[in-house]
Amino acid sequence: MFTVNSGLNLKNELNTLLVGIFKDDKKPTGIVEEIDEQLSGQVAELFQSDDLSAKLKKVTKIHTLGGLGSKRIYFVGLGLKKDLTYRKLRDTFGKAAKELKESKHDDVAVALDSFTSEQVGNEQTAHALAEAFVMATYEFEDYKEKKNEKRYALKSVNVFTEENTNSIEASLNDGVAYAAGTNVARDLVNTPGNLLTPTDLAESAVTIAEKHGFEYDVLEKEDMKELGMGALLAVSQGSEQDPKLIVVKYKAKENWDNVLTFVGKGLTFDAGGYSIKPALNMHEMKSDMGGSAAVLGAMEAIGRIKPDVNIMFVIPSSENLINGAAMKPGDVITSMSGKTIEITNTDAEGRLILADALTYAKELGASYIVDLATLTGGVVVALGDIATGVMTNDDEFHGLFNECAEATAEYVWQLPLFEPYTKILKISNVADLVNSAGRLAHPVQGGAFLSEFVGDTPWVHLDIAGTAYNNKANALGPKGATGVMTRSLIKLAERFATK
Ligand code: BES
Ligand code: MN
Ligand code: ZN
Repeated sequence: MFTVNSGLNLKNELNTLLVGIFKDDKKPTGIVEEIDEQLSGQVAELFQSDDLSAKLKKVTKIHTLGGLGSKRIYFVGLGLKKDLTYRKLRDTFGKAAKELKESKHDDVAVALDSFTSEQVGNEQTAHALAEAFVMATYEFEDYKEKKNEKRYALKSVNVFTEENTNSIEASLNDGVAYAAGTNVARDLVNTPGNLLTPTDLAESAVTIAEKHGFEYDVLEKEDMKELGMGALLAVSQGSEQDPKLIVVKYKAKENWDNVLTFVGKGLTFDAGGYSIKPALNMHEMKSDMGGSAAVLGAMEAIGRIKPDVNIMFVIPSSENLINGAAMKPGDVITSMSGKTIEITNTDAEGRLILADALTYAKELGASYIVDLATLTGGVVVALGDIATGVMTNDDEFHGLFNECAEATAEYVWQLPLFEPYTKILKISNVADLVNSAGRLAHPVQGGAFLSEFVGDTPWVHLDIAGTAYNNKANALGPKGATGVMTRSLIKLAERFATK
């Protein structure tokens, strides 16, 4: 989709040219000045009459009526240079991409240098461009009689720069990998529960693993029984679909140590079990595998980027339904770790399947763990659909993760795991833990429960219940699955590699 060239010639025939304009420039400068000259001062006039605004995210389309090699120009407003951030630039590119797609202008030239500033340099600009264009034009292939075709509407994007074309090309490829990984996650989350069972999820994982030559293993119910994964098995026993535990290893180093590990909740549908959910919006619980989707999206990107760090991907997958064999409130189960759990609410199932996955991940050599889960409605109440809730047992690892989330412009916000919180769940008369102790500090209970199974291993827990699925479109995509946190994971992998 992207090609890089130098020597942008305005006389050459181009379909659509994208140019950035800053508020700082009161009169045309750089490429805009050249355009203005060729159009005999008309651009300057547009500036003066306010028909052309450099307001952030404002996109103005003009037709050159034969005055230029390029048929039309999209002027993209970037605001004041000093106020521009990576996030703002990327979202502006997203908005422009959506307008291009809408107008079916799928053959585009980009004057990249007109978008760069001291704040956001040319490599970051290239990354933002690629990430935004691939993400913003994403569409889920639907099941309508008349299918929506053409998923990535921009066929050709010719990027012009007078900077080092090799480094720009590398940054574009990086941006494409981030976005493609995110779109992999989105596709999985948008797929309905009947078409994405734990077996299907495992197949998707195997497909990606094989594509990149990664080692993998899918545990079946019998294996789980042997390993004593009582928590994962308890959740799945109410379903006709077999649970799966997916493990993929990306071995970049000679020795299997310093293993960065991503663990994702893969609940392909969560009806709540006997503590059943209300009917309203229950259909959205097909998105309860958003954590596993981000893990697989990151896997796809890591396969492309191949950072120099060992990475393990672990996904426990199950449905949470009701039948005659389903777990019941009051049941006591034994997890793989040996800790017993009293089921006080069958709808707090994510932490159960993750408990065994975390124990197993440690057994397989996990040195640093990030888990991702659509875990609690409480985090939706607290942070809405804007920020992902974060909990941790290790400030240093969390600091590193935070930098990565910031660098990829994904919003995260920390919730506490103060020592008294770890006692909330130790109230059972018959078991070590309950899986839910009511409404108080609801998202923190989820984190506190998981912390019992990670022990001293540096760990970051991401509650993406509010952010994995959007009810409205934004600059980077349509409504539905967001692929949230995929990019932060990729960035973390890259950051570990350079350490
Ligand atoms: N999958 C849900 C959490 C969720 C809620 C995800 C809203 C996305 C949007 C999770 O399994 C769940 O049901 N959590 C319960 C926990 C409670 C019973 C302790 C909840 O949040 O109500
Ligand atoms: Mn639930
Ligand atoms: Zn759930």
